[in-house]
Amino acid sequence: MKVFVTGGAGYIGSHTLVQLLAAGHDVCVFDNYCNSSPVALARVRQLTNRDVAMVEGDIRDADALTAALVDFAPDAVIHFAGLKAVGESNEKPLLYYQTNVTGSTNLLAAMDAANCRRIVFSSSATVYGEAQYLPFDEEHPIGPTNPYGRTKAMVEGIISDWARATPDASAVLLRYFNPVGAHESGRIGEDPQGIPNNLMPFVAQVAVGRRAKLSIFGDDYDTRDGTGERDYIHVVDLADAHLAALDYTGRAMGCEAINVGTGQGVTVSELVVAYRRASGRPIPLEIVPRRPGDVARSYAATAKAEKLLHWRAALDVDAMCASSWRWQSDNPQGYPMAGEV
Ligand code: NAD
Ligand code: UD1
Repeated sequence: MKVFVTGGAGYIGSHTLVQLLAAGHDVCVFDNYCNSSPVALARVRQLTNRDVAMVEGDIRDADALTAALVDFAPDAVIHFAGLKAVGESNEKPLLYYQTNVTGSTNLLAAMDAANCRRIVFSSSATVYGEAQYLPFDEEHPIGPTNPYGRTKAMVEGIISDWARATPDASAVLLRYFNPVGAHESGRIGEDPQGIPNNLMPFVAQVAVGRRAKLSIFGDDYDTRDGTGERDYIHVVDLADAHLAALDYTGRAMGCEAINVGTGQGVTVSELVVAYRRASGRPIPLEIVPRRPGDVARSYAATAKAEKLLHWRAALDVDAMCASSWRWQSDNPQGYPMAGEV
């Protein structure tokens, strides 16, 4: 199958490319590298011994996006491209709406022009907002609490409307929980710019000595040990979920939102213990006040993914930490400059 992958040079995109290429699909990446490196694609080519077509462009540029889609004529699209930092979305909401929402409407219009009817979209568990009950199932009310989350909820609605109005359309909205870890080779991984917002890359940078200590945001939550509980999902399992979702779009019409998580909550303290074990490093820490906007607990109901996609997570927290550590220790400063591989 020919698959057009927006944001394919990014963290989750690059891992998904590896699985797509290994499964024999042909891919074309569309990315402006605003949060990624061409080296990631070079390494994907190296890992898979396959070519990856690449168009450097911005999803806000409707003409360029349409030209690329019409030219590649894909059977399906996976739409990763977007901005994802919650804090930045509060400071620059219009940038987030233009990139995530307008970029997505541009993409759907370009798909219409290219006569492509199948899409898998990167949504987020953040669309649920504050838990009214746990685990979050897909029927849980939507109530995002920041501009980033609102862009995801809006795009879900837009894709759902598009699918309803488009004959033979099939869309899957994958609601990721907390993606972490790296490819087992340690050649590709998460390479955040500046200070990491998320727990796992921060812990990894403390372990490798780039940062002095981890600040744990609160130990007075109503959880097993007082620290926040999340559903961490190995990025390789997440990549597999995209292939399962692509298959699904080949056998069902309409639009479905589907959680991608393990169904298991892991606390911050438990994750630190697992990372110490995987890395053999001490990981100094301090307890600081809660981060505004954080919830105590979040984890997925996984039955819908199992039923519709025939997919379930296979890799545990130890595998997540071991692969993250391999990537971080082999690439302490992240990807090298473009040109090197
Ligand atoms: P990432 O930043 O590593 O990847 C996003 C890619 O999109 C990057 O390569 C970036 O250069 C590209 N991009 C951004 N704006 C673009 C634009 N205007 N035009 C073209 N390309 C553009 O992020 P990721 O972690 O791989 O996330 C992928 C998707 O999954 C995003 O939509 C994100 O919101 C969503 N998501 C991520 C997480 C997570 O924790 N990583 C959780 C839930 C959902
Ligand atoms: C964050 C985003 C969410 C997004 C998700 C993607 C916020 C408020 N929410 O959620 O929208 O969908 O990432 O993965 O940014 N923690 C620390 N110290 C740190 C970093 C985090 O103690 O330096 C704690 C947090 O309080 C939380 C847990 O670690 O309990 C996980 O945090 P994080 O990785 O940022 O993910 P989320 O809070 O789930």
